[in-house]
Amino acid sequence: MSLITKQEIDGSFFRSWVSEMRFDEVRDEIQIIMDAVKGHTALFRDSLPMIASENVTSSIVRRLLMTDFSHRYAEGLVDERFYQGCGYIDIIEREGINSTKKLFKAEHANVQPISGVTANIAAFFALASPGDKIMTLSVPTGGHISHVEYSAAGIRGLVNYDHPFDEERMNIDPDQMVKKIREIRPRIILFGASVFLFPHPVKEARSVADEVGAKIVYDGAHVLGLIAGGEFQDPLREGADVMTGSTHKTFPGPQGAIILCKAELAKRIDQAVFPGTVSNHHLHHLTALTIALLEMRTFGKDYAKQTIKNAKAFAQALYERGFDVRCEPLGFTESHQVVVDVTNCGAGSYCAKRLEKSGIIANKNILPSDKLDPENPSGLRFGLQELTRIGMRESEMVAIAEIIKLALIDKKDPSRLKAMALEIKKSFNTVCYSFDGGDPYPDVIAANWMDKFL
Ligand SMILES: Cc1ncc(COP(=O)(O)O)c(C=O)c1O
Repeated sequence: MSLITKQEIDGSFFRSWVSEMRFDEVRDEIQIIMDAVKGHTALFRDSLPMIASENVTSSIVRRLLMTDFSHRYAEGLVDERFYQGCGYIDIIEREGINSTKKLFKAEHANVQPISGVTANIAAFFALASPGDKIMTLSVPTGGHISHVEYSAAGIRGLVNYDHPFDEERMNIDPDQMVKKIREIRPRIILFGASVFLFPHPVKEARSVADEVGAKIVYDGAHVLGLIAGGEFQDPLREGADVMTGSTHKTFPGPQGAIILCKAELAKRIDQAVFPGTVSNHHLHHLTALTIALLEMRTFGKDYAKQTIKNAKAFAQALYERGFDVRCEPLGFTESHQVVVDVTNCGAGSYCAKRLEKSGIIANKNILPSDKLDPENPSGLRFGLQELTRIGMRESEMVAIAEIIKLALIDKKDPSRLKAMALEIKKSFNTVCYSFDGGDPYPDVIAANWMDKFL
């Protein structure tokens, strides 16, 4: 798919309104940017992307990201805008809200937050005041920075208390958690994480939340697509008052976020989003999201199921090849993620860099009680959602685990491994679980784009 048409790159149009001299000043910089875009696209096309917070969108979703909505404002709620010209975005946003409510069986949905962090800040503003206590996972045990004092929670002036964590199970200890909730009486009990292998004890928290006057917020940023597919826990049924989530991690849509809540909190949440934390939401992203929601309503179950199957198969294959994969007695994972302690292979930073040279893009990750330098922590985190979205299944997971063994245990030549990774990748050229598929890594800039100006 070429998104830049011949007409758009016609140099004569350009020459008619800019002098050669002024163009000379910026020519090199244009070239640097275009080369970087091309290079980036080729990198991801030719590698195996396994960052747990990323995904690819279908062709129609990409096209909707380029519409005129990317230039417009629609502050306010549907039918209550502050500007004229919003009739069509009203139609689209109403569809998006209804679709979100159906998909997640939610009483209320706000589709305006521009990212998961913004959604969390809005939830904190809606439910708590400065000085209130919040219970979350600490960052080393998997919590996201937005949960703690140096990011969103801190911006709201909240005081952090950590969930008691069971390292063996890589999860919150439910009994200790209930005790601690009774002891500290937090205003918000927050679930969800960036390292998120198993469902969190939402039900257990529900049993004490009312007693201490707490609200339960579930940050589903990572697992939103799995929840949408009905293959992870169902936080709203288990007792969460509010659920936030990015729309671009396991949920394979454009970058952005949603907030779901009980009807009684609708007004507080809506006001915390606008005018609280978002002025103009990103209308092109919202438009693209409405189609991604319909894709998930149609294909979400199969996609989520296969993602988890792939994660389990990948973890098992790594384990059989000698890796210290976390939580083997529990079946490694119930989500899209797999976490490996790579202390014995040179630790996280070294391993992540070596993998990139070998054609696999993943990230280093701090593990609970990490004794190593945070710059080179002991873990690697893998996500299987993107490879699933482009159609990979269990047999590819085994082949990829073998490349990782050759790279990190056998220390084979990365350039040879990169060729092996490409060999696997090159048969997967379509975005699956979508209406119109499309190339997952389209080269949108014509090779000779600059030549037109020379
Ligand atoms: C648990 C969790 N919440 C929130 C976020 C932030 O999401 P976003 O990047 O959409 O702001 C992340 C990011 O990875 C995350 O892991």
